[in-house]
Amino acid sequence: MRYNRLKIQTSTSKYSIYIGTNFSNKINTILNNEKIFFNKALIIYDSKIKIKEVSKIILKLKKKKVFIYKFYSNEKSKSFNTVNKIISKLLKNNFTRQDCIISLGGGITGDLSGFVSSIYKRGIKFINIPTTLLAQVDASIGGKTGVNHEIYGKNLIGSFYHPNVVIADTEYLKSLSKKELICGYAEIFKHSLIYSKKNFLFLEKFNKKILSLEKKVLQKAILESCKIKKSIVQKDEKEKNLRMILNLGHTFGHAYEAACGYKNNLNHGEGVMLGIKTAILFSLKEKKLSLNDFKRINQNILNLNFNLKLKKFFKLSDINKLISYMQNDKKNNNSKINLVLLNRIGKASIKNSYDQKKIKKFLYENLDNI
Ligand SMILES: NC(=O)c1ccc[n+]([C@@H]2O[C@H](COP(=O)([O-])OP(=O)(O)OC[C@H]3O[C@@H](n4cnc5c(N)ncnc54)[C@H](O)[C@@H]3O)[C@@H](O)[C@H]2O)c1
Repeated sequence: MRYNRLKIQTSTSKYSIYIGTNFSNKINTILNNEKIFFNKALIIYDSKIKIKEVSKIILKLKKKKVFIYKFYSNEKSKSFNTVNKIISKLLKNNFTRQDCIISLGGGITGDLSGFVSSIYKRGIKFINIPTTLLAQVDASIGGKTGVNHEIYGKNLIGSFYHPNVVIADTEYLKSLSKKELICGYAEIFKHSLIYSKKNFLFLEKFNKKILSLEKKVLQKAILESCKIKKSIVQKDEKEKNLRMILNLGHTFGHAYEAACGYKNNLNHGEGVMLGIKTAILFSLKEKKLSLNDFKRINQNILNLNFNLKLKKFFKLSDINKLISYMQNDKKNNNSKINLVLLNRIGKASIKNSYDQKKIKKFLYENLDNI
């Protein structure tokens, strides 16, 4: 079995991320390597994952008692309501802390399953098998778990809880739409912007090959992206300072998603990509980012044929709503808005406490330019 294995160590946990292909055949070897033992497992799987993929895993776990929960994942079902249903199923089947939850799905399934794992009997074993590019390069690393609040917005209820292992199998990515692949690419791209010009240059050269899932290039892009997130999370697990740079584009992006009602016309990754476009323009206007870097970043986005424009989703009259979502972001601790700005390709900084009037004016002036 040829694969990459990345070890994560934080102050509270230690686990591995496996990156490669055809892992379902080898799941027992991985469990033994990682010393993960349990009697019962609940597989929470995304409804878009074919049942034959779920069956492959069940077959390999034949010595264990395996239950399944089919999850229709979207930002609405990433909710306390679903958490309650899953917890009832675990209780009904007498799951103990020694048992295990296996997430098989994208970032939504992983965030929800991780959150359930963290609160069920104060913590049960958790295996994350991310099936989207976004989840493989971002959501499955770093221990953030959570669900959305129906009224107030995204990821407002959650915990820090690391999995026992992450198994990123790139075979799953073959059934993703181009739109979903671009969402994952947005996070790989963001990691390069905030932390590594070398990775940015790699993406400039190979972005088309990554999106056409050329195995070698794809796995390198995933590995390098995971390394950046690992490095940041290991330095600041609980998001006290450095980890905030991972939010480049997210304060805007989350507001765009929330204002669209978490509908499929604008999904998380597209919100983030528009958020990154907004954040780099804001960084340029604030004279933090050079025009040269700004143009180069935009060119990379254009090369992906990412054609979404803010004005397709919002009118000037929506800006107040966007600002109120931004203010509700959990990274703010007063009425001002914190933003991550880009200083240059490969270096970001956290700028605290922007007055909301300033951001409102910027959006009024630039709604048509993003
Ligand atoms: N915990 C973190 O650190 C972190 C980081 C980034 C994002 N997130 C969260 O992750 C979520 C976004 O993740 P996502 O983009 O993976 O969303 P997702 O889980 O909704 O998956 C995207 C879509 O792909 C489908 N899908 C999943 N796997 C598939 C496959 N192999 N083939 C075909 N379709 C498949 C899903 O049903 C869904 O329609 C957001 O809720 C975001 O808040 C969390």
